Order: sequence, then C-alpha cells, then structure tokens
Amino acid sequence: MEHQLPQLPYPQTALEPYISSETVAYHHEKHHRGYVTKLNELIKDTEFEEMELSDLILRSSGPVYDQAAQHWNHSFFWECLRPATAAAPSQTFIQRLRENFGGLEEFKLRFKETAVSNFGSGWTWLVQKEDGSLEILNTSNAENPLRVELRPLLTLDVWEHAYYLDYRNSRADFVGAFWEVVNWDFVEANLELKRPQRERAFNRSLPSTDSRRPH
Ligand SMILES: [Fe+2]
Repeated sequence: MEHQLPQLPYPQTALEPYISSETVAYHHEKHHRGYVTKLNELIKDTEFEEMELSDLILRSSGPVYDQAAQHWNHSFFWECLRPATAAAPSQTFIQRLRENFGGLEEFKLRFKETAVSNFGSGWTWLVQKEDGSLEILNTSNAENPLRVELRPLLTLDVWEHAYYLDYRNSRADFVGAFWEVVNWDFVEANLELKRPQRERAFNRSLPSTDSRRPH
C-alpha cells in the first residue's frame, strides 16, 4: 500500500501572517512529501509494505521508523493548526492546564521554554500520560511519543525548516506566533476522556492511505 501526502485542512495562505504561505508550501509540498516518498521507497517489497502508519510507528526502526514517524508527526502537526482566530481553549481545558501547569499562560511559557531548549531538530509535545495527567516534552529528530505510550495532544515542529524563512534563527518568535494559530478544538478532542470526539480527531490525524485523498 502506498502512503499518501494528506491534504492540508486549510489553504496554504490561511496561517498568515504567523506562518507564511511560502513556509507552508515548502514544508508541506517539499519536506512532508519527501518523507512520504522515501517511506514508500523503503517499505516496498518488505514486511512493512502493508502496515498501517500507526503500526509502523510502533514496530519499525531505523530509516523506516524515521520516515514513518516524520509522516505521522507532520500529518498531526497540520491538524494542530488553523487560520488565526480569537479562539481560546475551552474553560474545561483551561482547568486541565491549571491543574497540570498552573494555568494557560504558565503552560504556554513552559511549552515555549521547552521548545526553545530542544537542541537541534525535533518536536515539542503536549501529551497525556496513562494516569490522565498532562506533560510537555521534547523529542529529537523524528521521535514520536506513541512509541512510549504517551498520547499526543499537540505538537510543534521545531526543525529549522518549519520557521527559518519567516523567523530566521529565532525559534522563540516562532513559538510565540504558533499560539495564534493553534487549533484548540483539535487539541482538546485528543484527550482520552472525550473518547467519541477524540477517536474522530485522532484517527483523522492518522491518515490511512484508503481514507486520505492524495494532494
Ligand atoms: Fe517539518
């Protein structure tokens, strides 16, 4: 089965002025597409050829894992974003953030500090642990939290290709702009407690080659 580049859930211009259409175009059409293409090349005629993407994340290693995880991470990342609106997290979710981090602003600050301190290329995540608590963590390169049984709620790509055109070397400015385009509905829907919604949201972010239209 051939993995496909998912369509963006919004036009390439939709995240401006926070993330330029040029960045989105390169990031989606060049970088993300590159991971999908390499993944398909690597799995051809191997035991991984018919495996769903989520299974590849859990069961592969080396170059196959790297490409599969980058495909998953980027697919999830696009869903974490939406055109800039004044939308904020729901009061229920803000309460969850308060319980875990002290509040929304405290969460944003800790997430930003974590993202800025992620050395080299990688991802910064808000995840839900098995006990229901929330945690902010960094992963390096392609690494995905599903591998260690953590449920991703939100992610930020901190590879330089995600922000260099717009913010040059200032990752901190990129993280600041990121909050303007976070899709809080998607983030909240990924919580374990909201299972019916979560299944829809989470499965949507785990593109199967059957259900996603090629871009
Ligand atoms: Fe990326």
